Amino acid sequence: MSQTAPSQSAPSQSAETVPPSATASVDPASVDPDEIAKFTAMAEAWWDPNGKFRPLHRFNPVRLAYIRDKLCSHFDRDPAAEQPLTGLRILDVGCGGGLLSEPMARLGATVTGLDAAEKNIRIASLHAAESKLDIDYRHGSVEDLAAAGAQFDAVLNMEVVEHVADVGSFLGASAAVVRPGGIMVVATLNRTPKSFLLAIVGAEYVLRWLPRGTHDWRRFLRPSELAADLRGSGLEIAEMTGVAFNPLTDSWRLAPRDLDVNYMVLAEKPA
Ligand SMILES: C[S@@+](CC[C@H](N)C(=O)[O-])C[C@H]1O[C@@H](n2cnc3c(N)ncnc32)[C@H](O)[C@@H]1O
Repeated sequence: MSQTAPSQSAPSQSAETVPPSATASVDPASVDPDEIAKFTAMAEAWWDPNGKFRPLHRFNPVRLAYIRDKLCSHFDRDPAAEQPLTGLRILDVGCGGGLLSEPMARLGATVTGLDAAEKNIRIASLHAAESKLDIDYRHGSVEDLAAAGAQFDAVLNMEVVEHVADVGSFLGASAAVVRPGGIMVVATLNRTPKSFLLAIVGAEYVLRWLPRGTHDWRRFLRPSELAADLRGSGLEIAEMTGVAFNPLTDSWRLAPRDLDVNYMVLAEKPA
């Protein structure tokens, strides 16, 4: 595949991805202070592969490969290239400690990592410095970025939407910062009896992968609800795929037709 993107999907050449004043107010509708306090209390654990964020560490390979392949396909890049995402501006919303921001930067992308928990941003910045990666980490909300007119080729919304207060405000602002011709990837949990059993009872109470109370099942979104919100924000749904855990191999895999528990949505903004 050629590294030359077609005009419909070519990243624009803005010198500055996000105006410096665009973040730091964190009381917009999407931000739930109780959720932010919860993540602040766990912030030291972000980079411990066997700690409180172990599930995200285990989940990372499959979602990274998915995101890389979808970005390469959409922007006409060679996924086998060493840095196939060079020149693409990516916003990692709710970046936490940077588990996704760092590999995206290694793949060549110009990454902005945004989180409403200031301590996460401090931990992420320190880790990026240790890893010698240049990532623009911001404490703030996506509503602030949208109000400032920021634009990105791709917006990653991975495991965040189930933690926000006002989903409409959050997804509307996230969609607003996708540039025309750009894409958004959302990963979240479905609201089904199976997800209650596996993601709440199993993960938090039986296996204790996650601290109790990490998730509120009532906040999980059905794929149809998420799709309706994304369409209402001006995006088109390109694809939905499930992600399933195999306890025998302790690993995750894409399960395209099984959206019962974990799933990802790929959405595009018309050019
Ligand atoms: C489960 S973690 C996911 C972290 C990261 N996206 C990943 O998948 O590795 C959710 C993150 O979203 C952040 N968050 C929650 N609500 C937010 C909001 N409204 N705006 C920005 N960040 C938010 C939390 O502080 C936390 O770091």
